[in-house]
Amino acid sequence: MKNENEDYMDWKNVSSEHINHFKETAENIFAPVYRVLARQVIEDYGITKGVCVDIGSGTGGFACEIAKISNLKVYAVDIKEEMLEIMKEKIEKEKLAGRVIPRSGDVHNIPFNSNFADLVVSRGSFHFWRDKKKAFSEIHRVLKIGGVGFIGGGFGRDEKVRKEAMRLHEETYRGVHGGRNFHENLKARYMELKEILKDMQDFKITFDESGLWVEIKKT
Ligand SMILES: C[S@@+](CC[C@H](N)C(=O)[O-])C[C@H]1O[C@@H](n2cnc3c(N)ncnc32)[C@H](O)[C@@H]1O
Repeated sequence: MKNENEDYMDWKNVSSEHINHFKETAENIFAPVYRVLARQVIEDYGITKGVCVDIGSGTGGFACEIAKISNLKVYAVDIKEEMLEIMKEKIEKEKLAGRVIPRSGDVHNIPFNSNFADLVVSRGSFHFWRDKKKAFSEIHRVLKIGGVGFIGGGFGRDEKVRKEAMRLHEETYRGVHGGRNFHENLKARYMELKEILKDMQDFKITFDESGLWVEIKKT
């Protein structure tokens, strides 16, 4: 981490221990959250076919849930090879081969052409991006005109799922984020994003119980 107010972390070089810990967290804490968020995104934006890109997809939980409830072909991009290996196993297990496609890549240089995606999602990753302005303009670049981005952090609108995920998350990650709790940390990120995105068109930030989310509607 660079300083107390930033969460930048070089995931490319995190340890295997850290990756395995995250795998456990994804399976034990976040699994219901991925389902809630996938439903939320599909219902809110009505994008059910075409191409979706999940950035910083980790072990692929969110990407898989989107594929299960839509006809979208989901590219699950992550910078960390070990994450992609775990994701591949999950895709096989969930019988989603060809529907969810793992792709090695960095949000600062997304490995797709411009106007490629109908939907770009990302959960729990933007905190760690070194140059958020560049990252968000890359996401905007790969979106088609009329496409939607949903990027942020949080546990979604289902109160029961959210409260339980929050409780387990606080227990597991006590002491990270410069000692701030989950909500305080999102608030710090909210102030940061407001500043970074203030001159960028097509971006809207929401910060409420469901989390901190940047909605992009490319015009
Ligand atoms: C906390 S995990 C969240 C994973 C997943 N989105 C989820 O909700 O379970 C953050 C992920 O972002 C990835 N990541 C971090 N920086 C990245 C970058 N510059 N480009 C692409 N992925 C990145 C990490 O490798 C990691 O898998």
